[in-house]
Amino acid sequence: MKNKIEKIYADASADIAKAAATSDLEEIKNKYLSRGGEFNAIKKGLKDLSDEDKRTVGALANEITQKLEAALAAKHDEFYAKELDEKLITEKLDITMPGKFSAEGRIHPITNTINEITAIFESLGFSVVANELSPEVDTEYYNFDALNIPFEHPARDVQDTFYTAAEGGRQVLRSHTSGSQVRAMEAKKPPIKVISPGRVYRNETVNSRKNNFFHQIEGLLVDKDITFGDLKGVLNEFVYAYFGMPKAGAAGVGLREQGEQGSIVSVRPTRFRNSFFPFTEPSAEVDVQCIMCAGAGCRTCSGTGWLEILGAGMVHPNVLKGVDIDPDVYSGFAFGMGVERLAMLKYAIDDIRLFFQNDVRFLKQF
Ligand code: PHE
Repeated sequence: MKNKIEKIYADASADIAKAAATSDLEEIKNKYLSRGGEFNAIKKGLKDLSDEDKRTVGALANEITQKLEAALAAKHDEFYAKELDEKLITEKLDITMPGKFSAEGRIHPITNTINEITAIFESLGFSVVANELSPEVDTEYYNFDALNIPFEHPARDVQDTFYTAAEGGRQVLRSHTSGSQVRAMEAKKPPIKVISPGRVYRNETVNSRKNNFFHQIEGLLVDKDITFGDLKGVLNEFVYAYFGMPKAGAAGVGLREQGEQGSIVSVRPTRFRNSFFPFTEPSAEVDVQCIMCAGAGCRTCSGTGWLEILGAGMVHPNVLKGVDIDPDVYSGFAFGMGVERLAMLKYAIDDIRLFFQNDVRFLKQF
């Protein structure tokens, strides 16, 4: 038995002397010292020896094991240091190399414009209606009937509105966000002060100014004693905030100070023109003085000096009655604006289709 141990020690020592790398040492350790290794086989045989032999042979086995482990450890330290040095030389990291750039994502200009407009109205005390109050596929009731739009109104024609087959009859791809006024008034009693942004669809021939879907932001305020003056005040505030803040010191004064000629950050006057919508009475279309030419007349404003930016009016009594709000007690105003149009005016974009083609060269500019 002792001889066997001495023999293993000699073999293992010779192997260690021949080893050239840490990986060789691993192999040697496995061969001699692991559970299935040669030494363990010897140790298992100890139980068959006399007590006397068990002690001496056992002590020898332990001594040899320790010697081998020490020899392996010493070699390991030596090889490891050497291998690390080699690695440091061959696997050098060049920190001056340019990194790999990944394209930066950004928010779509339409989303951006919606966020910006929403923030302005939130600062005026409006809140955004819940998604379920603003469905894109809606019934004719919400898109037309509840808004006092008569059955024979041309907007209902398939020339203008997309219809779709749905459970429980035909429905429309909403042609405006005004249906959300009705849902908002059904959901809550006055005071109501909401805005509702979303996508709308119209059966248009697509060109640089018209797309068959676009975005609108609807606004509605219903309370006691609401007048057309309130409507004007709120929309003027919006125009000032969106097209440019008044210069320092000019806040709160009439039309506020005007910026430099042609500057699109300057404050412009607004104009409320008499108009007609079935769901508001009286109705108005709101123009802002042309942001390009400051009213002088140019291509953007077709020489008029004004840009139409939204439709608005006092909520029609029939609409209020339809949602059980007494028009003798409450009154309100509503407005609706096209997001693409407002973005095109602000950023001087001359083709609405650019928003939907997703050409990164266009999108990168925002
Ligand atoms: N819904 C109208 C449109 O799409 C805009 C509007 C909204 C007008 C609210 C008045 C009041 O043209």
